[in-house]
Amino acid sequence: MTGRKVFCTDPFFEAPRARLAGSADVEYWDGSERPPRAEVLRRIADKDALICLLTEKIDDELLAAGPRLSIVTNVAVGYDNIDLAACTRRKVAITNTPGVLDETTADLTWALLMAVARRVIEGDALARSGQWKGWNLNQLCGVDVWGKTLGILGFGRIGRAVARRAQGFGMRVIYNSPHRAATEVEHELSAEFLERDQVIAQADFLTLHVPLSAETRGMIGAAELAQMKRSAFLINAARGAVVQEASLIAALERGQIAGAALDVYEREPLIPDGLRRPNVVLLPHLGSASIETRTKMAMIAAENVIAFFDGRRPPTILNPEVL
Ligand code: NAP
Ligand code: GLV
Repeated sequence: MTGRKVFCTDPFFEAPRARLAGSADVEYWDGSERPPRAEVLRRIADKDALICLLTEKIDDELLAAGPRLSIVTNVAVGYDNIDLAACTRRKVAITNTPGVLDETTADLTWALLMAVARRVIEGDALARSGQWKGWNLNQLCGVDVWGKTLGILGFGRIGRAVARRAQGFGMRVIYNSPHRAATEVEHELSAEFLERDQVIAQADFLTLHVPLSAETRGMIGAAELAQMKRSAFLINAARGAVVQEASLIAALERGQIAGAALDVYEREPLIPDGLRRPNVVLLPHLGSASIETRTKMAMIAAENVIAFFDGRRPPTILNPEVL
């Protein structure tokens, strides 16, 4: 055996398991539910590396429980579950999985948007209920998507992949991000940069693609929801805490916006009852959930561990200063 010990908090897929087999002694979590925190802390006591999901909080307590850890690879692009500063202080390398999930997450964002606009979930429920009495002129009428205005907050990899798809729907695309995109990108995606308030106020569909950070936590609250058109829909496939959930529920109750489609929640897996409404589409954090993409994400995590053990720079390291 290699002598390098790894704990992976997931059973993983065959390909990354095979890739890791020659490079490390990997202990996999094979439970059908997420491992309890105490179990993770116990299992990392003698490990050199941890492969984790976004459900694990990587903080001082965990780092103290794994004094030999020198690399933690997060099988997700978002890393708000990780105290990066604490890891850097302890010289623990952190990696994530950028790039491979953009198109898959953009597809899912569009699935949310289409589902809420065209009442797909309600239609499915009626069709399978046995209660459908036949075609009716005003039955389950939603709203058009084509020709409408798509507002994007966070114009990074996923935000842009979402914008690209809007071209097929003949939509006007407006966006806001701290850094304006290059002119060529704006031309290619027919996207118009506007101030955040204007994006919020003009969008028929407002979709969020920012990372969760101190600046973006709660960035959509009562004031922003009040700025939205009453006919507009909020789509969130970023992180739940970017939206103040209580304010969203209040806005939905008052009919201040037309609806919402959500993949993520403030306190996952908790979904507040106030969100269980016909005009809200709810998914259980499925953004990157295609077999192809999840396998690629797991392979990136494996490659990062292997590179680190080989003395090479992990390809997607977030804190290269620790090397
Ligand atoms: P990315 O390429 O880094 O893009 C993030 C964008 O957000 C950047 O363009 C950044 O702007 C912008 N941004 C940062 N702070 C902002 C602020 N305060 N206001 C407006 N825009 C801001 O990241 P990505 O790969 O597209 O992923 C985005 C997020 O999606 C991830 O962090 C993750 O939380 C989430 N995600 C969710 C799922 C899911 O399963 N639902 C799947 C994948 C990712 P600048 O470029 O100007 O700095
Ligand atoms: C999923 O939510 C990710 O950040 O990859």
